[in-house]
Amino acid sequence: AAGSSGTRRSAASDVAAPAAEVKGSAFTLDPPSGTRDFFPEDMRQQRWLFDRFREVAASYGFQEYDAPVLEHEELYKRKAGEEITEQMYNFRDKEGAAVTLRPEMTPSLARMVLQLMRAETGEIAAQLPLKWFAIPQCWRFETTQRGRRREHYQWNMDIVGVAGITAEAELLSAVVSFFESVGITSKDVGIKINSRKVLGAVLNNAGVPAERFAETCVIIDKLDKIGAAAVQKELTEKVGLSADVAQKIVAATGAKTLDEFAELAGVGESDEVKELRKLFELAEDYGYADWLQFDASVVRGLAYYTGVVFEAFDKAGVLRAICGGGRYDKLLELYGSKKEVPCVGFGFGDCVIVELLRERGVQPQLPVTVDFVVAAYNNDMLGKAMSVARRLRKAGKSVDVYPEAAKKVKKAFKYADKVGARKMAFVAPDEWENGLVSIKDLRCPPETPADKKQVNVPLAELDKV
Ligand code: HAM
Repeated sequence: AAGSSGTRRSAASDVAAPAAEVKGSAFTLDPPSGTRDFFPEDMRQQRWLFDRFREVAASYGFQEYDAPVLEHEELYKRKAGEEITEQMYNFRDKEGAAVTLRPEMTPSLARMVLQLMRAETGEIAAQLPLKWFAIPQCWRFETTQRGRRREHYQWNMDIVGVAGITAEAELLSAVVSFFESVGITSKDVGIKINSRKVLGAVLNNAGVPAERFAETCVIIDKLDKIGAAAVQKELTEKVGLSADVAQKIVAATGAKTLDEFAELAGVGESDEVKELRKLFELAEDYGYADWLQFDASVVRGLAYYTGVVFEAFDKAGVLRAICGGGRYDKLLELYGSKKEVPCVGFGFGDCVIVELLRERGVQPQLPVTVDFVVAAYNNDMLGKAMSVARRLRKAGKSVDVYPEAAKKVKKAFKYADKVGARKMAFVAPDEWENGLVSIKDLRCPPETPADKKQVNVPLAELDKV
């Protein structure tokens, strides 16, 4: 829930920090429930996280894309009873169009791929595979809790046009690379893997029509929330499975190994099982198999997944899923593609990972910094100080101009300290007459001799300091 007024709720924290009381404000000062303000310190953390997302995606050869946060509502009109379709921020715009803030990115990606296909008169083959990533803000009207909010940013990586399991192997590797890049190990985090195809084979054997498949998965995904008995009940009452088959499916999700699952599900060493085995082999070769574990209970709550599904979890077991994804080979057909376009991807939120970094004590310290504060000795020197700032910026330095004459030098130093300046440039009349600017190093060790701490530098050599 949102903090009460008079408290500042940081984006990075669920803890409301006390703030100065704002007397007489007629407005609530908190952002809407479940949303965040990003104060500069929060923004530095967020930039740092997004930089890691971008670096990893780029190192796997993925290209960044984006789409509007406002989408056509109909893209999310799926009838499998998913939670996400009930959590939309949907409304009619002033022209009566049914729109929504996007709850997730995948339908927008599908829409964009279909645009390319249309432009290519239905033939996209020449452009495939596409390897794209994005960091969209997504909106879901959720019950706000630790790691779940009404808006979140979600790093997405998707591969379009690769039917084989190498795509999954590549994406899982990227997720692992990200964790490694922020100091998380396989002792902290695991990735649970399953395949809906195996479940599909069970349903097929039981005579369940293919069109009931998505709905069945969405129901099974509720196992954790509503328990085995309630899931079995929904499977018989809503999907029309016999009590026998419903019981068998639920029992199979308790399997501890892929072998046990195949046996309980009665599918044996089928193609679906072999494919999953292959994924674990590839992970072994790739060198990240220690992060993976088979888990028959993972099906994910989105209707469109058709094959391998996965989620990363914290091994301490206190946080919600860190990321989730899977294969969705039929989504483009749902939006009008004449043929199947194989797709696989994941979404990785920006909330749970921050909690995890904090728990593990690997959240970075990101103090504010600037290379220089430039201060003028008196009002006459203000313009000169600005010209010094310009020279330094042209030389690639970040520069903060002290906003008034620095008659009280102590105050200027206090300011430099507050903004995290590495150096202070003083522009004073005597030095200026000789073409010099006084530069003081604010970060050198205390034992540094005074003539090294502070030096007069010729204007023409400012680009070298
Ligand atoms: P999802 O499982 O709904 O998948 O969400 C993926 C991840 O987004 C979650 O594991 C979590 O990290 C984050 N997330 C979701 N909802 C919230 C929330 N309310 N607050 C904070 N974080 C949240 C998808 O959205 C799929 N479109 C992912 C995908 C991409 N599948 C294939 N490609």
